[in-house]
Amino acid sequence: MSKKIDGKLIAENLRSNLKKQIIELKEKYNKVPGLAVVQVGNVAASSVYVKAKTKSALEVGIEVIDHHLENTTTQKELIALIESLNNQENVNGILVQLPLPNHINEQIILDCIDPKKDADGFHPLNVGKLSISATNDENLLIPCTPYGCLLMLKGLGIDLTGKNAVVVGRSNIVGKPMAQLLIKESCTVTIAHSKTIDLEKVCGQADILIAAVGRPEMIRENFIKEGCVVIDVGINRIEVDQNNEVKTKLVGDVKYNELEKKAFAITPVPGGVGPMTIACLLRNTTIAFKNSLNS
Ligand code: GUN
Repeated sequence: MSKKIDGKLIAENLRSNLKKQIIELKEKYNKVPGLAVVQVGNVAASSVYVKAKTKSALEVGIEVIDHHLENTTTQKELIALIESLNNQENVNGILVQLPLPNHINEQIILDCIDPKKDADGFHPLNVGKLSISATNDENLLIPCTPYGCLLMLKGLGIDLTGKNAVVVGRSNIVGKPMAQLLIKESCTVTIAHSKTIDLEKVCGQADILIAAVGRPEMIRENFIKEGCVVIDVGINRIEVDQNNEVKTKLVGDVKYNELEKKAFAITPVPGGVGPMTIACLLRNTTIAFKNSLNS
């Protein structure tokens, strides 16, 4: 049986650490970090994430500036809001929940966010800094989900140097920044994706497997090597038949009950990557706040 990586607990520790830091900063500077949370429309999953992010931010002492806009909001209106948040002194971090409605170009919006206030680390300048810098240093605004995955890997206390890491998924939000972070840990990194030939064989080489494909329970027991570490980024809601009643449940991109027999360690869904993503968002907001005090 493998070790279950407790993302919930690691995230709790990270949040209590941030809470202490924020109390100290408040005593010293008489202000707290501010996070603007922007949601456009009512995609159900986005509403769940935004609610969870807001609750966690408030709990650690971050001020939340909430902007929930109609689905019909134009790109121009959204840009105007972001520009005003860029200039608002009490706003240190700006989070625009993705996906945005189809009539809005996400990249144009992300490009408008002041890179110093980029709580998600999605602005091209921060993407570039992540790729260039040799270390994952304290001032960088790093995309939250992959950084949370890295913290969980580091928490295992294993030496990552030279390990074969396979990232399944090439998104800008997870796959690509995850690869950058692992390169800096001196892993040998492969990015696999939907067009990869013989995905099973590629995954079979992994000492560390990061699954970020968004396809429920796609990674099966026969994909992995005995003793590897599995980080499951997927959060998929599926329908299951329970005593002739159709219920929904959350599952990851890996078939947990198969892989847990073979892996050295594995993250559960829920309770693995999800809470870490939120804790890392709060970390980025606090970093942006501290950077603003020094500038
Ligand atoms: N949608 C899915 N994941 C994320 C994330 O980490 N940040 C934002 N802003 N939107 C998302």
